[in-house]
Amino acid sequence: MASTYGAAQVLVASNRGPVSYEVLEDGSLHARRGGGGLVSGLSAIGPDAGALWVCSALGDGDREAVRRGAGESGVRMLDIPADVHADAYNGIANSVLWFVHHMLYQTPLEPVFDAEFRRQWASYETYNRAFAEALAEEAAEGAAVLVQDYHLTLVPGMLRELRPDVRISHFSHTPWAPPEYFRMLPDDIAARVLRGMLGADRLGFLTHRWAEAFTACCEQFAGGLGDTAVGVHGLGADADFLRRRSHESDVDERLTALRAEIGEGRRTIVRVDRTELSKNIVRGLLAYRRLLDDRPEWRERVVHVAFAYPSRQDLAVYRDYTAEVRRLAGEINERYGTPGWTPVVLHVKDDFARSLAAYRLADVALVNPIRDGMNLVAKEVPVVSDEGCVLVLSREAGAYEELGEDAVGVNPYDVVGTADALHRALTLPPGERMERTKRLAAAATALPPAQWFLDQLTALTG
Ligand code: F6P
Repeated sequence: MASTYGAAQVLVASNRGPVSYEVLEDGSLHARRGGGGLVSGLSAIGPDAGALWVCSALGDGDREAVRRGAGESGVRMLDIPADVHADAYNGIANSVLWFVHHMLYQTPLEPVFDAEFRRQWASYETYNRAFAEALAEEAAEGAAVLVQDYHLTLVPGMLRELRPDVRISHFSHTPWAPPEYFRMLPDDIAARVLRGMLGADRLGFLTHRWAEAFTACCEQFAGGLGDTAVGVHGLGADADFLRRRSHESDVDERLTALRAEIGEGRRTIVRVDRTELSKNIVRGLLAYRRLLDDRPEWRERVVHVAFAYPSRQDLAVYRDYTAEVRRLAGEINERYGTPGWTPVVLHVKDDFARSLAAYRLADVALVNPIRDGMNLVAKEVPVVSDEGCVLVLSREAGAYEELGEDAVGVNPYDVVGTADALHRALTLPPGERMERTKRLAAAATALPPAQWFLDQLTALTG
């Protein structure tokens, strides 16, 4: 099958695919667009482009779609046994590799690489092999295969053995850990991950910082990069889509509802995240509490609009974190709230239209991750903002490399510093705020998803 990307057939592989299915009460299947940064980035690959997207079946609805052969054209979902997938996704990818690359292990949450870990690792290998075999089966002679993320680090090496003729790339949507942290993994596993990735012709990262960390890991633990090339592609926001979508009627409705919830004439500090440890939502709330403590003049005059959408709830550490976010938001409201003012408006039900409404009205956007591959919220807010918005941005987010100059930078661990940054952001003169927003929007949209994807493809096949 030829694709519109030129002569080579294009295959994409990722854990989460572009659609997910739900079985409705009448037994029919309902398809919904998948979420997350990776899907946004790859949304440029429409079904008409002739590319094939290989992904996991993730729930009962997806499995049913596979059974009925009802999937969308251009998508092949792999029905990997649920226990193998759970070990690979929850056990290895999200509890180990995610934690290593985001440097989230801290006392008392340190890794224990025991027999259970080894058992899960075997599932991770099985899961990666299922992808490699499906790709080997689907790929035409000389096809270009673009593998995504930390779930599939072994696929390039496995596929290379099965199909030496295809061109392979791997793209990391996360940070990459520096060698001193990466070496926490057992030696054989660290070597296996690097060797798996180095099976690719080309590796892509979101920032120079992550690419350099990977290269340093290879130098220390794998004898260098060998023939594998490394490139940096900073995924940007899709301006056309966002500007159109953020003015549709459902967003307008949510804007009206949010304004009523916030109250007349108040300033807003907005954040939108998956409820994820790396996003640092708790320290964000502590910084807001500190702002209200230190500068009582803001009481009644500001509202922290925090959207924290549940994520990876199969993992206890995520459930605990979600509970802590709710507890702290409740505590702040209890302590400072008045009959006419709710200091923290917390919503946990994922609603993209409401997120866009919040972007539009935000005076300040708080994006303070401990570590983040890029962070698309930081790039989306300035594009959508109605009247200019000051971005308070962690210097540990990949987006800081591109947006740092016009944002108010923060050390994500420094709660007092973040409270000061919020005050500074709230008091920036409107003219400067608008100028900064314009420059941020230009930088944030410099590499839109379609171009981001094409650049990688050209680098791989060109
Ligand atoms: O690279 C990070 C990523 O894979 C993004 O695509 C997305 O933001 C997030 O993680 C999704 O995580 P999950 O698929 O576990 O919900």
